[in-house]
Amino acid sequence: MLIKNRIASDVSGSEITPKTVFDNRRAFLKTAALTGIGLAAAGLPSLPAYAARTPFSGVQKTQWTAKSMPENDPLNTYEDITSYNNFYEFGTGKRDPQENAQDFKPLPWEITVDGACAKPGKISFEDLTKPHALEERVYRHRCVEAWSMVIPWVGIPLAAVLKRFEPTADAKYVAFETLMDLERMPGQRQRVLNWPYKEGLRMDEAMHPLSILAVGLYGEVMPNQNGAPVRLVTPWKYGFKGIKSIVRIKFQSEMPATSWNEAASREYGFYSNVNPAVTHPRWSQETERRIGELFKRKTLPFNGYAEEVAGLYQGMDLRKWF
Ligand code: MTE
Repeated sequence: MLIKNRIASDVSGSEITPKTVFDNRRAFLKTAALTGIGLAAAGLPSLPAYAARTPFSGVQKTQWTAKSMPENDPLNTYEDITSYNNFYEFGTGKRDPQENAQDFKPLPWEITVDGACAKPGKISFEDLTKPHALEERVYRHRCVEAWSMVIPWVGIPLAAVLKRFEPTADAKYVAFETLMDLERMPGQRQRVLNWPYKEGLRMDEAMHPLSILAVGLYGEVMPNQNGAPVRLVTPWKYGFKGIKSIVRIKFQSEMPATSWNEAASREYGFYSNVNPAVTHPRWSQETERRIGELFKRKTLPFNGYAEEVAGLYQGMDLRKWF
C-alpha cells in the first residue's frame, strides 16, 4: 500500500461477470449442493472439507443487495477478486497472496473474544456460523489505493456475533487481530508492518447492520488470499479496515491501535471512511478505477453507503477524523 506506482500498473483487464451469469452459476451451485455434487451437501463444510471452491448451501440474499447496488454496478469476476489482493502476510505484491497462500490450512480455527464483556470466551469457525443463516451481501469494495471492485460476500452480521459475548458499558471500541504465525504466514518474517495486523472499529460501527464477518464469496468458502476462514467487511470504509484471518476480538474503552495508522499516521487514520473530499497525502481520492473497467468512476462519500452510515458521524469534522 505504501508504493503508489503499483496501484495502476499491475492489473488484468478481465471482463466482469454479468449478473445473469452469476445467478445461473448460483443456481447451479445450489443444485449441486442439493444433489450431493457439491462438496458441502448441507450447511458448512466439515473440517477436512475446507478447500478452495467449496460451496456453501442455503445462502440468502439480503435487502442490502437491492438497496445499495445500482444496476450499473456489475460484479467483478471470481478471478479478479482472488488474484488482485492485499495480504502482506503472504507478500506485498498484488499477485503474491494468490500464489503464496495456497498451502495455508485455515481449519481448525478459533477466535478469542475478551476485554470489556460479561462472557469472554473462544468461538470456533463452526460455532461462529452455526446459529446464523449465511447471507450474501453484494458490496462495493474501495481500496485506499483508488481501485475498487464489487464483491458478493457470504457472511453473518458482526453485531450478532458480538452480542453473544455481552459487551459491557466500557466497550466503546472493538479491536481485531490477525493470526501471528511465522510458519503459516511467511510474509510476517519481513518487518513491513507491525505484526500481527491490527484493526479497530467504534462500537456503533461494529454493531451497524452493514458490518459483517465474511466467511466466503461467490457462494463458496473464503479463498485463502481473501482472508480465510473469516475476515471483517465494512463497505463504507477503505479496504484496509477489512482485517483478514481474524483470531482475536477485544472490547475496550480506548481507541485501538491499527497497523496502517502505526505505519503512517498522516496517511491512514482510525476511521478510514471513504471520502472523496479528503485527499490522501500522495494521491487524490476523488476517483477510482473499477478493476476490469477502462474509465475511472467518481468516488462516492462513504463509498455510496451514506444513507445508511452518515448518521454515525454527525457533528464530527471528517477532515480531522479521516
Ligand atoms: N488483513 C491482513 N491481515 N493483512 C493485510 O495485509 N490488507 C488490507 C485488508 N486486510 C490486509 C488485511 C488491505 S490494504 C485491503 S485493500 C484488503 O484487505 C484487501 O482485501 P481483498 O484482498 O479481499 O480485496
